[in-house]
Amino acid sequence: KDESTVSITVVGASGDLAKKKIFPALFALYYEVIWWQHFTIFGYARSKMTDAELRNMVSKTLACRIDKRENCGEKIDQFLKRCFYHSGQYDSQENFAELDKKLKEQEGGRVSNRLFYLSIPPNIFIDAVKCTSSSASSGIGWTRVIVEKPFGRDSDSSAALTKALKQYLEEDQIFRIDHYLGKELVENLSVLRFSNLIFEPLWSRQYIRNVQLIFSEDFGTEGRGGYFDNYGILRDIMQNHLLQILALFAMETPVSLDAEDIRNEKVKVLRSMRPLQLEDVVVGQYKSHTKGGVAYPAYIDDNTVPKGSLTPTFAAAALFIDNARWDGVPFLMKAGKALHKKRVQFRHVPGNLYNQNFETDLDQATNELIIRVQPDEAIDLKINNKVPGLGMRLDHSNLNLHYAARYSKEIPDAYERLLLDAIEGERRLFIRSDELDAAWALFTPVLKELEEKNIIPEYYPYGSRGPVGAHYLAARYNVRWGDLG
Ligand code: BG6
Repeated sequence: KDESTVSITVVGASGDLAKKKIFPALFALYYEVIWWQHFTIFGYARSKMTDAELRNMVSKTLACRIDKRENCGEKIDQFLKRCFYHSGQYDSQENFAELDKKLKEQEGGRVSNRLFYLSIPPNIFIDAVKCTSSSASSGIGWTRVIVEKPFGRDSDSSAALTKALKQYLEEDQIFRIDHYLGKELVENLSVLRFSNLIFEPLWSRQYIRNVQLIFSEDFGTEGRGGYFDNYGILRDIMQNHLLQILALFAMETPVSLDAEDIRNEKVKVLRSMRPLQLEDVVVGQYKSHTKGGVAYPAYIDDNTVPKGSLTPTFAAAALFIDNARWDGVPFLMKAGKALHKKRVQFRHVPGNLYNQNFETDLDQATNELIIRVQPDEAIDLKINNKVPGLGMRLDHSNLNLHYAARYSKEIPDAYERLLLDAIEGERRLFIRSDELDAAWALFTPVLKELEEKNIIPEYYPYGSRGPVGAHYLAARYNVRWGDLG
């Protein structure tokens, strides 16, 4: 093992994602789990920079969960010594050949394993893949490429991208990242479900009335409007992050924990779903709002957003899985910018003797399992309980697992887990091309319809709970959103 090397080239090293997520995650991995002796990190981007300047830039990004630890300074110095920079165009074979030379110098004739992280805009993607393939490791080492979304805008563009990628790479070299799959509580979903006898028998239409996947952010696009406007919330969050969680939640038990077995089950469940219908979608866009003397801007006030844009910054949707386990159960998704907290939850309603004893007549006798992915990770199980006293009154109380109280260890960032997996060749948490096709097949028709018909979004004030249309949509399926509290 000592005689092989791992090099990680961050293509797009001066970008936001590299600074905010990739370098800090690499450092955290270096601090916590470094086991390969010879490793090198290369930043690659168009701007001119020396190694020293890159190190300086990276050192400013290393504020992460590790940076308060003992001997962190020393570790940072060691880490920075392994960081190098090469400036080049994303479509220049020549520049990548120079990078290859520098990589070889660092590898010193050992077996070379190379990971390229493409953190660059979609329009230059394929050119860069073509070039990275010419600086692939030679001999017995591996070459892997991590690619970031957007994986196209619809079924056709995604298929074209896959086809282009496969000209240069084998499927098992492509690591399509969806960072939600690296989040601790998403990773825990299968453990919760498959290793707890109390849940698995209930995990079906027989007991579950509805499943809600809720993503909410309390800030707008703020400067990212140029990217966002081209995609909108359905593509940015629902078609990938929420749908991935849904697939993990709803899949059948995989044959094993092997990556292919898990992904086979995810594909099956995605393919059992009905494409989303226009009448099952509500779209919204945030408008300006003044609160506590502070004026919050509208989406279209963002000067990177084209005037008059109808791009949704909020969407609610009802999806259905046509299989024996889930027939008729609405899976409701809600995602929005300029709102608030995040939740994933399911609820089920068994019969209950005590219906008349509840304080309110809403949601009588339901149990609710709430998996809070972030912030403040927690799992809450809402049970019905007798209010202490001589009478017989019932209320809902929580049995809760609050991560901060239960575990002293900090939760690793999703990118740490995913980078580690990519280095180790573990594909479980990456998206296979057939999964991607199935995901696009569900959203493409409705996206086309929304755009062709120029559907006007419902406007909601910045910082609010989103458009009321979301409540009507849920009510049609007898559901009340569970994030009102
Ligand atoms: C990204 C989206 O994939 O996820 C962003 O493009 C969004 O719009 C982000 O803000 C949310 O990620 P997280 O990890 O902060 O919840």
